[in-house]
Amino acid sequence: MSERTTTPTTTQTGTPVASDTHSLTIGADGATVLHDRYLVEKLAQFNRERIPERIVHAKGGGAFGRFEVTADVSAYTRAAAFQPGSTVETLLRFSSVAGEQGSPDTWRDVRGFSVKFYTTEGNYDIVGNNTPVFFIRDAIKFPDFIHSQKRLPGSGLRDADMQWDFWTLSPESAHQVTYLMGDRGLPKSWREMHGFGSHTYQWINAEGEKFWVKYHFRSQQGDLHLDAESAEAIAGADADYYRRDLHEAIEAGNHPKWDLHVQVMSYDDAKTYRFNPFDLTKVWPHADYPLIPVGTLTLDRNPQNFFAEIEQAAFSPANTVPGIAISPDKMLMARVFSYPDAQRYRVGTNYNQIPVNAPHAASVANYSQDGAQRHGFNAPSTPVYAPNSFGGPVASPEAAAEGGWESDGELVRAAYTLRTDDSDFGQAGTLYRDVYSAEAKLRLQATLAGQAASITIDEIRERFFQYWTNVDADLGAVLRETHATAAAAADGAAA
Ligand code: HEM
Repeated sequence: MSERTTTPTTTQTGTPVASDTHSLTIGADGATVLHDRYLVEKLAQFNRERIPERIVHAKGGGAFGRFEVTADVSAYTRAAAFQPGSTVETLLRFSSVAGEQGSPDTWRDVRGFSVKFYTTEGNYDIVGNNTPVFFIRDAIKFPDFIHSQKRLPGSGLRDADMQWDFWTLSPESAHQVTYLMGDRGLPKSWREMHGFGSHTYQWINAEGEKFWVKYHFRSQQGDLHLDAESAEAIAGADADYYRRDLHEAIEAGNHPKWDLHVQVMSYDDAKTYRFNPFDLTKVWPHADYPLIPVGTLTLDRNPQNFFAEIEQAAFSPANTVPGIAISPDKMLMARVFSYPDAQRYRVGTNYNQIPVNAPHAASVANYSQDGAQRHGFNAPSTPVYAPNSFGGPVASPEAAAEGGWESDGELVRAAYTLRTDDSDFGQAGTLYRDVYSAEAKLRLQATLAGQAASITIDEIRERFFQYWTNVDADLGAVLRETHATAAAAADGAAA
C-alpha cells in the first residue's frame, strides 16, 4: 500500500474534483444531474477499461529481465542481440492457450512462451510454446482447430467430442497431442518448464551465409510437472497459481533463468534431410542436430502495471531483426500476417507506440502517421512521403539483410512433399516409446483413459482408439482394454 497522500483527485484533464464519494444531486435525496462531469467521466472511463482478450492465449502473466550472450554463435548469425558480450532487455509472457482471461492456470493445456528482445536493431520476438511441435501444419486449419478446443456455440461448454473429432480427423496432431496429454500438459509452474521457438527460423551471418535454426530455452529450474489430481485441486483453489508463483518468486529475489540453445542445420542439408525440416509437427532429433549454447535469459523485474505492460504487450513472429528471418514453414508465414492484424484490432492501430511494444534500444523512423491514439510523431520539418529531396528517412537494404530461399512452382493447394521418414504418427510413437519413462507412460495412459470416457459418440471414440494405435499399437490396446473393463464395471453397477 502506498503512503496516505494529500494529492488532490482531478479529472482526466487535471482539474481538482469536488468529491470522491458524492454525486451532484438536486438536494440530498433528489435526481442526479448529467452535468456532474466527473461522475460521467468516471463511469464512462470505467465502461471502457477492458480491451478484447487475446483470441488464444488469453490467460497469462509475465515479467521483464535480460538476455546475456555466453557463447559465440557469430558464425551463424549477425544479429546484434546474439553477438558475444551482448546483454539485451527482455520481456517474457507465459500463457495457457484455450482458457479465457479468468480460467484456472492449471487446466491441462499447452503453455505459451513469448519472448521480446529489445535489441539495438529493433524488437525481436520469439513467440513459442513449452512444446517443440504443434497440432497442425497448415495455417488454414488454425481457426477450426481453436474452435474445436474452445466452447460450443449453444451451451457455451467445452466439449471432448469436438476436440477428439478434430484431432482424430487431423492425424498430423498426434505428436503434439502426445505432449499435451503427457506431463508437459501440466507444468509445475511457468518457471519450471522449457520453452521452444518450435518453428524453424533462418539465421544469416555477416558473410550472408544462411542457416536453419530451432530455439530451445531450457529452464534452469527444471522441466517439472504436477500430477493430475493436484492440478485439478489447484484449479479449484487458486485459479492464478502460476501467475502468483512467478510474481512472488521475483518479488522474493528468486530470479528464474533459462539457457537458450539452438539446433543449427546447414542450408543445403535442409534440401535432403529425412524429415521435412519446415514441418512444425516434427522435431529434429538431437542426435542429428545437437544443442548449441547461446546465452541465458533471467527474469528479475515484475511489471509495474499488469494491464499496461502485459495485457497490452504485442508479440509477433513478424518482429525479426537483421541476421534472423522466417522459413518456408506454412504456419510461420501465416503467423507473420496474423499477429499484427490481431493486435491492431485488440490493442489499437498505434499499438506499437505503447511503451511495452515500442523499441527500447532502437529508434523508429518512417512515414506512418495519424490513426487512433497516436502520440508519437515526426518533427514538422520531416517530409511525409518517400522518396523525397528533404532528408527524410531512407531504406538501407544492406543493413536489413532480409532472409530468403529459392522457390519455384505453380500455385497449388497441396500438402508438403513427404520426405523419407515423414509420417503423422512416427515421431509421436518415438516420443511415447523412447522418451517417456515407464511412470510417464502410465500417467499418459491414465489421462487418455479419462479422455476416452469423456467422449460420448461411439464413432469418435473408435477413431480415438485407432489414433493411439497408430501412435503405438500397445498403447492403443491398453486404452481399448481399460475402456472395455470400465464400461463393463459401470454396466454391472447399473444392473
Ligand atoms: C497459423 C497458426 C497460428 C495462428 C494463426 C496464431 C494466431 C494467434 C493470435 C491471433 C494470437 C493473439 C495475438 C494477440 O492478440 O496479441 C496468438 C497468440 C499466441 N500464439 Fe499463436 N497462432 C498460431 C500458431 C501458434 C504457434 C505454432 C505457436 C507456438 C509455437 C503460437 C504461440 C502463441 C503464443 C505464445 C501466443 C500468446 C502471445 C502473447 O504472449 O501475447 N501460436 N496466436
